[in-house]
Order: sequence, then structure tokens, then C-alpha cells
Amino acid sequence: MSGPSRQSSPLLATGSLALPPSTCTCCPSFQKLGRRPQRIHQARVPCAQASASREQTKILLEEHEMPRQWYNIVPDLPSAPPPPLHPEHKSPITAEDLEPLFPKGLIAQEMTTESYIDIPQEILDVYKIWRPSPLFRAHRLEKALGTPARIYYKYEGLSPAGSHKPNTAVPQAWYNAQEGVKKLTTETGAGQWGSALAFACSIFGLDCEVWQVRASYDAKPFRKTMMQTWGATVHPSPSEVTAFGRRTLEATPDMPGSLGIAISEAVEVAAQDPDARYALGSVLSHVLLHQTIIGEEALLQLAKVGETPDLLVGCTGGGSNFAGLANPFIREKLAGKMNPIIRAVEPKACPSLTKGVYDYDYGDTAGMTPLVKMHTLGHDFIPDPIHAGGLRYHGMAPLVSHMYDIGLMEAITIGQKECFEAALTFAKQEGIIAAPEPTHAIAAAIREALHCKETGEEKVILTALCGHGHFDLASYETFLSGRMEDVDINEEKLQKSLQNIPVIGSA
Ligand SMILES: Cc1ncc(COP(=O)(O)O)c(C=O)c1O
Repeated sequence: MSGPSRQSSPLLATGSLALPPSTCTCCPSFQKLGRRPQRIHQARVPCAQASASREQTKILLEEHEMPRQWYNIVPDLPSAPPPPLHPEHKSPITAEDLEPLFPKGLIAQEMTTESYIDIPQEILDVYKIWRPSPLFRAHRLEKALGTPARIYYKYEGLSPAGSHKPNTAVPQAWYNAQEGVKKLTTETGAGQWGSALAFACSIFGLDCEVWQVRASYDAKPFRKTMMQTWGATVHPSPSEVTAFGRRTLEATPDMPGSLGIAISEAVEVAAQDPDARYALGSVLSHVLLHQTIIGEEALLQLAKVGETPDLLVGCTGGGSNFAGLANPFIREKLAGKMNPIIRAVEPKACPSLTKGVYDYDYGDTAGMTPLVKMHTLGHDFIPDPIHAGGLRYHGMAPLVSHMYDIGLMEAITIGQKECFEAALTFAKQEGIIAAPEPTHAIAAAIREALHCKETGEEKVILTALCGHGHFDLASYETFLSGRMEDVDINEEKLQKSLQNIPVIGSA
């Protein structure tokens, strides 16, 4: 399925809202957004100067202002990312190759060459439970830091599962249900993605089976209860349920697990059941596509207060919240409408962008998924169990890897102690207790704000606070009691796993 063009948007079809871009003369900050004015009028966003001031704490959109299309950045990039390859014959995969794992609607999105995909009404209706999400100006944090920078954060923790993950779980469940799939299998690292999919499956009447990385299963028992409350079945990974899990446990009985192993288990079960499909919470292009609603909303919200960011920071595990926020801004940057620095933040213990190689590798540990060109630490690299379980993935989204490779963005690493220190500062000023993953983004935002304090620059910093940490208080407890250690990547382990990356030749 290739997505309908922008012209077929239901809102545009109403006619009365489809004002030509040239009619917008009241609002220079909206006009600055490349390719946007038409959609801004579609969403009936009122004049920026009249609607909001920078002194506001919450910048909100009405339900009817919610973007009605997801954005695919690929057609706007100077070059396309290299194609995924079949794991056996190593030639580019076809849609048919993916059908045992994914429904046709999502495969079409994975491969689409359209820039915009209409969001089906049934999905918009579920999104309305928590969307549009608020954009906050961190006035108190700015004051506490004494910085002239203006810090904005897009808060995704108000979703039922507590993070950005339902933005893709809901469409993934819906497209599967449309094609008669009865069950979805998946992995979860932080517990956030498994919860999101359990919620989405319950909405559309699908069974849900989740492999939760052992370290996370032990540390967050109430994430499991949350998934069960929505009707899901949850296994610790590695598990006795799959052949790969049993092999792994036999070799290493006390294995803490990893996202790569849990993915192998979930894929193994889905591939053997004709009524089941597999769902992935990050990495794939259709997942990043669904998350662009974050950035599209943030663009509208910043326009309401007449701001454009100088720096955009986001944490990267598989890259979905980062790309979801960043890609619409990169579109504007490529169109010459703004010029933010785009910065990914990864944990020191699992730094795929900054320490990995850019090469074809498997998305899972067992080597069952297609080969994708990405920044990878090696598919059998088992990251040490840090508190940000959602960032313990050996690879990076191929799309994010490509954007990094062609210089559209930069990446840094931060250790977990600095992240939790920043999270405490943030919680004391802004009130929100962040999930361990976005503490990386908060720490990077604070670093930049303190730099601005030295230079006097009034930079506009934008970040995604992509989830709350209410199920992560054991991690906070570890930090508060002084027991948290910084975990650097183990170089010896890294070199060993890099040797196992498959050799593709000239592909
Ligand atoms: C709250 C939260 N943030 C970030 C991530 C990392 O994933 P991604 O890089 O795809 O956003 C996760 C993954 O589980 C998560 O739960």
C-alpha cells in the first residue's frame, strides 16, 4: 500500500479549510516553515502572535489541530538509505519476504516512497486518548540553572503506557487486525514497548505475547502486571518457551538477556504461527514514521510561540523517539527554513552510533531478521545491564544511521550517573520523574543550557521527554543510595562481537 497523497487528506477534502498558503499573512513564524502553511491552515492553528506567548508553561494543541498524516523523510534526503537484505541469499528483500512477520499495510509503509501517509480515522480516535501531547517550556529548570537558554520539552509520558511507544503500537495493532491477524508477539527492554503493545492489542482485540528482557523483568515486576492487566502473556527472556531461548540458557544460565535475544524469541514464535505476526517497537522505518506525529505537533506548538530550535536533543535506543521528534525538523532544515543542530544521545554502555561500525548486520541475536545497514556493536553484543533498558540495543535504526552517516546529525554518549543527576534536578524543578532513557536527553539539554550560561547565548533547546519513570523507581533508589555505577562499554567484548558481523561483499 502506498500512502495516499497529501491532497487526499480528509481535512483538505472539506474544502473550507484548504486555504491557499499565500492567504496566511498574519504570522511570519508559520510562514517560515517550509511546506507547512497549507497543513497549518488545515489544522486551523490560529495566528501565533495572538495565540500564545513564550511565558506560557504549557503549549497545547486542540484535538482538531492534531496532525492527520505521518511524515516519511526518505524522499527529502539527499540519498536513500541502503536497502535491507535477505538473511540467506543477501539480495534486497521484497515485500513477500516480510509477509510471514508483518501485515501488508505495514510492509507498504516500510517501503513507501510517499512523503506523507494519512493516519486512518480509527487510529486518530485512539490517539485522542493522550494526543496532542503537551509541549512544556521548562521555566523553573532554566531559572534553577541560571541559563539564558530557553528549554522546551515534548512530553510523551501521558499516554496509557507512559511513553511514546503507543504512537506506533496502536497503528501496528490496527493494521494487523485489519488483515485478520489474531496474535502479536514482541520483545520489550524497558517494559514500555511491551506495555504499549499490550494496550493496543486490547483495544483492537488481538492476543499479545511479550518477551521481557530478564534484567528488566526482574527489576520492574509491575510492568509485567501492567501488560497482564491489558491481557498480554509475558515471559522473561531468555525463556524456556523458544528453541533459541533454551539454547541461550543452556550456554549461559544467568544471562541478563538483551533486546536482540528477546527479538529472536518473539520472531521465532511468530514465524511458526500462521495467525500470528511480530511487532517491533523501534528501528524499522514504519515505526519511525508513526512517531513523526511527535515532531509534527512540536513544530506547530513552537510556531504558536514564535520559536525555532537551535538545538534538538533526543535519546537513542533504536532511534524511534529521536527520529519521531527530529525528522519533521530536519525536513524544515533541509528546506532552509531553520538550522537546528540535531544531536542524539546514547548510553556509554551501548554506544552504537559513536562506537559501532556502519555495516550490514542482523537486527536480532539469532540472525533471523533481514540484514540492515546500521551502526552496530555486533548482533551478539550483550550490553551490560544499565538502568535504561530501552537503550540496550546493539544497533540503530537504518534511517537514523544513514542520516548520521551523511552528516545530518551528530551523536554523543553520557554515563548513567550524570543522567540520573540531571533527572533529579529536572524532577525537583519540573516535577516529572523521567524514565531512565530520556534522562540521557535531559542531561544533554542541561549540559547545553549550562554552556549557554557561560557564553550568554539565548539558544532554544528542544527535547523529547519520551516517558515517565513511575515503574523505574528502583533505579532512582539505586542512584539516591549512592550505589549506581557508571558502565563503560567493554572494549574486549565489543571487538569480539564485531568479528561476528556477517560479511556481505559488495552489497
Ligand atoms: C521511554 C523510552 N524511551 C526511549 C526508548 C528507546 O527507544 P527508541 O530509541 O526507539 O525511542 C525506550 C525503549 O524502550 C523507552 O521505553
